[in-house]
Amino acid sequence: MNKADRIFVAGHRGLVGSAIARRLAADGHDHIVVRTRDELDLRRQDAVDRFFDEVRPDYVFLAAAKVGGILANDTLCADFIRDNLLIQTHVIATAHRTGTKKLLFLGSSCIYPRNAPQPMKEECLLTGPLEPTNQAYAIAKIAGIETVRAYRRQFGFPAISVMPTNVYGPHDNFDLQSSHVLPALIRKFHEGKTANAPEVVVWGSGTPRREFIHADDLADACVLLMQQYDGDSIVNIGVGEDLTIRELAELIRDIVGFRGTMRFDPTKPDGTPRKLLDVSRLHALGWRAKIPLREGIARTYDGFAARVDRSSSQL
Ligand SMILES: NC(=O)c1ccc[n+]([C@@H]2O[C@H](COP(=O)([O-])OP(=O)(O)OC[C@H]3O[C@@H](n4cnc5c(N)ncnc54)[C@H](OP(=O)(O)O)[C@@H]3O)[C@@H](O)[C@H]2O)c1
Repeated sequence: MNKADRIFVAGHRGLVGSAIARRLAADGHDHIVVRTRDELDLRRQDAVDRFFDEVRPDYVFLAAAKVGGILANDTLCADFIRDNLLIQTHVIATAHRTGTKKLLFLGSSCIYPRNAPQPMKEECLLTGPLEPTNQAYAIAKIAGIETVRAYRRQFGFPAISVMPTNVYGPHDNFDLQSSHVLPALIRKFHEGKTANAPEVVVWGSGTPRREFIHADDLADACVLLMQQYDGDSIVNIGVGEDLTIRELAELIRDIVGFRGTMRFDPTKPDGTPRKLLDVSRLHALGWRAKIPLREGIARTYDGFAARVDRSSSQL
């Protein structure tokens, strides 16, 4: 990627897209092209055609998607499969048609089988049944991976697919109806602290193990892979270690400073028992995550608390 290249970051207001756009700007890229969903609905082929014909981006980071936590994935499964299939198919096909030099597609670790051997290697894709609560989303993402592969094979289009583990950071979604576990816990403990509540309820048994990567680390890896990797195989992006939801909740409780008790609600779904990515392929390319979990969560919490303060002072 040269400084003069036009780089389209699809989904630039999201958790991942905003980190990629920040990273590219910090690297001195002056031609970062962005559109909000209102300006360019990527579910509409006619709008995508008009945009690509006009802008002709040299590079595309495809970080626009319908994304959500366990509740949203389960209840809005039709929206998740439809929107993601439409967005990714339109963007990949149109980028190829209009001469994009390279495209990076963001998948997700939920593409791997529910009971995949841990840590999960890229090769375990399509080797067993998926976690039912996010099957529609996962199948859309698997279709995206196959679309990328098919465009590489049939047309020689230099597109690559990366599979990040759970991401957190600034611009995360803190809405309890649709958020992922980490931002949901930040919000619950913050509200518990503010209201002096005696307890905070955490969904599930607390036993599932999860891995988390800060969005700035993920953006760093995406930029490196865009520049240095051009293969048919998918590449996992993670930190290489995980912790239980109970350990995560305790860490967030300490960072937020909530003094009440924590109760787990086992009637709520746990999801996959363990999700740790094997990151040896990424390590072989010389990349390692740099932001420790405690520091990343503390930074995310500071941002969230400042946002809450600003919005309450505007009331
Ligand atoms: N968050 C995670 O833990 C995680 C983990 C693994 C992989 N990923 C992958 O990373 C990518 C980005 O996720 P994220 O967490 O950054 O999601 P996010 O915060 O929800 O952001 C999604 C972005 O997509 C845009 N978008 C959604 N529908 C659109 C449409 N119809 N037309 C145009 N833009 C649309 C949104 O635009 P507006 O802001 O304009 O609405 C938003 O900027 C996804 O492919 C996801 O699968 C995320």
